[in-house]
Amino acid sequence: MEDKKNLLSIIIPAVFALLHFVVSGAVGASSGGRKGTWQLLRQNTGVVAMHMALTNRNTVIIFDQTGAGPSRYRLRRRYSGKRCTRAREDLEDWSCYAHSVEYNIDGHNVRSLRLDTDTWCSSGTFLSNGTLLQTGGHGSGSQKVRYFSPCSNGQCNWRQSKRSLSDDRWYASNQLLPENDRVIVVGGRRVFSYEFVPKLHSSDRSFNLPFLRKTNNKNAGGNNLYPFLHLSSDGNLFIFANRDSILFNYRQHKVIKTFPRIPGGGSRNYPSSGSSVILPLNHEDRFRKVEVMVCGGAASGAYEVAERGTFLKALSSCGRMVISGNRHKWKMENMPGPRTMHDMLILPTGHILIINGAKRGCAGWNNAATPSLQPYLYKPKKTLGKRFSVLKSTKIARMYHSSALVLPDGRILVAGGNPNNRYIFRNVSYPTELRLQAFIPNYMDRQYHHLRPGNVSTKYRSSSDGIAYGEEFAVQFWLGRRPSKEVEYSVYAPPFTTHSISMNQRLLKLRSKNTVRDKGGWMVAVLEAPPSPNVAPPGYYLLTVVNEGIPSLSQWIRFIHA
Ligand SMILES: *[C@@H]1O[C@H](CO)[C@@H](O)[C@H](O)[C@H]1NC(C)=O
Ligand SMILES: *[C@@H]1O[C@H](CO)[C@@H](O)[C@H](O)[C@H]1NC(C)=O
Ligand SMILES: *[C@@H]1O[C@H](CO)[C@@H](O)[C@H](O)[C@H]1NC(C)=O
Repeated sequence: MEDKKNLLSIIIPAVFALLHFVVSGAVGASSGGRKGTWQLLRQNTGVVAMHMALTNRNTVIIFDQTGAGPSRYRLRRRYSGKRCTRAREDLEDWSCYAHSVEYNIDGHNVRSLRLDTDTWCSSGTFLSNGTLLQTGGHGSGSQKVRYFSPCSNGQCNWRQSKRSLSDDRWYASNQLLPENDRVIVVGGRRVFSYEFVPKLHSSDRSFNLPFLRKTNNKNAGGNNLYPFLHLSSDGNLFIFANRDSILFNYRQHKVIKTFPRIPGGGSRNYPSSGSSVILPLNHEDRFRKVEVMVCGGAASGAYEVAERGTFLKALSSCGRMVISGNRHKWKMENMPGPRTMHDMLILPTGHILIINGAKRGCAGWNNAATPSLQPYLYKPKKTLGKRFSVLKSTKIARMYHSSALVLPDGRILVAGGNPNNRYIFRNVSYPTELRLQAFIPNYMDRQYHHLRPGNVSTKYRSSSDGIAYGEEFAVQFWLGRRPSKEVEYSVYAPPFTTHSISMNQRLLKLRSKNTVRDKGGWMVAVLEAPPSPNVAPPGYYLLTVVNEGIPSLSQWIRFIHA
C-alpha cells in the first residue's frame, strides 16, 4: 500500500508535467511566444515606476507623483525632520511617504529619495557628466528643474534648482542637444511652445511652436502631448505630434521640413500613446541615413469613449520614414497585434523590443483594458513580413504609468503600472502594480555562451575624462572561438523613460578599423568614436560587443568635446 502510494506520487506529477509540457507547448506554438524568460526581482518597489532612468553608477532612478498620496514606502520622518506618527493625519500625509526611489541593480535594494514638489508626468535627460536633469511636473512642480547626480555612497539626492522654467511643462518631452549641455523642452498640456535649459540668452523665455497648436485635438485629451523628439545627425530636431512631423532648426527657430502625415488613422501621441525610436545609426553610411519608426497608438475617439467604459481596439500599424535626404515616405507594416502605451527599446543587437501596454483603449485613468502581455521583437533589417516575432508572455499587466529600460547586462527592467489616481490594491480591475520584473531576452541564454564576448574593457588616452569625437580607442575582449562574421560594436544612450517614450534613446554601430586576435582568444579592436556631437550628444553610453547576434555585458564609456 505504502509503495503504491509512493509510486502514484511519482507518476501523477510526471503525467501533469507531461500534460503541462504538451499544453504550454501548444499554447506557445499557436501564439508563437516562447523566446525569453521573466524574472521577478522585487515584490515592492514602494513607488510606482511612472518615470525611470538608468544611471552610469548602475542604479535606476524611479519616481511617481506626490499627488498620488500615500505610496508603499513609508518614511519614519518627513524631509523637514518632523516625525511621521501613526496618527490619522500623518498616515494620510503625502510627505510621510517616498515618491522617488533609487534601485540598486546588483543589491536589489531601494532607498528613498527626496522630492519637494510634484513630478507628475514630467520629462528628463542625462547631461554630459551623467547628472539626470528633470523638468516640470504638475501644480507646484510644473515649472521646476531638478538634478540628480548619481554617486556610489548612497548619499546623493534630488536637488531642486533655483531657476525655473518659463512655461508649465506637464507632459513635455526633452532632447539633449549637441552643444553646451543644453536641453530642449518641447510642449506640455495647453502649452504650444518650447524652451531651453539652460537658456540660450539670459533674457530668453519660451518660443512659440504653432505646430503644437495645429496638432492638438482639444477635446480628445490632446493626442499630441509627450511629442516624439529625435535628434537627426544633421543637428536638426525631428518632432512628431499626433500624426504629423517636422524637421526643426532650433538654432534659427525655423521649421525646415514638413513631412507627410503618417497613414493608419488614429493618433500616436498621448493620450493615444504609441511609441517611437530612431533606428540604429550606422558608421557604414557615416551616420548620414536617419530613419525613425512609430508604432501603435489609439483609434480616433478612443479617449472620448473610454470615459464611458468603452475601450476601442488600439492601432496595430507602424510606420518607418527616412528623415534625412530629400525623399520622405512612410512605409507601413503591422505589429502582430494592436498596442497602445507600450515602450520601444533598442537592444544592443540593434533589434527593437516592444513591451508593456494594452490592446484596447488609451492612456489616462482607467482608460484601457486587455493588457498586452507578450513582448514583440522587431528586426529592422529583415525583409518586410519577416521582421516581427512574438516573445514569452508575462502574467503582470503593465499599462498606464508603467515603464521599461535596458540594463547593462542585457536584461530589460520592467516596472510600474497604475491606472488609478491613488495607490489602490483591491476591488479595481487593474490594481496599482509595484512588482519589479526583468525580461531576459533569448540572447542571454546559456546555449549562446560560447559565442558571447567576455571580459570587455576599453582603453583610451588616460589623460582625458572620455573619448573625443572622431578619436580612436581600443576595446579588448575574449572570444573562445574565432568569429565567423564580423564582430559588431554598439553604443547606446540610456534614455529617460515615461509614458511609452524613451527620451534621448539612440544606438550607434561604430566602425572597427582593425581587429586582432591572439592564440589565447583575446581580441583587440580599434574603434572610431562618433564623428560629431550631432551624431551622439556628449555623455555616457553603454558599449556592447556583439558577436553573431550575441551581446557581451555592456561597459560605460563617455564621449566628450576634446
Ligand atoms: C554635472 O553638471 C550639472 C549641471 O551643470 C551640475 O549641476 C552637477 O553638479 C555636475 N555634476 C558633477 C558630478 O560634476
Ligand atoms: C467595489 O467596487 C464597486 C464598484 O466600483 C463598489 O460598488 C463597491 O462598493 C466596492 N466595494 C468595496 C468593498 O470597496
Ligand atoms: C574574465 O571574466 C571572468 C568572469 O566574468 C573572470 O572570472 C575572469 O577572471 C576574467 N579574466 C580575466 C583575464 O580578466
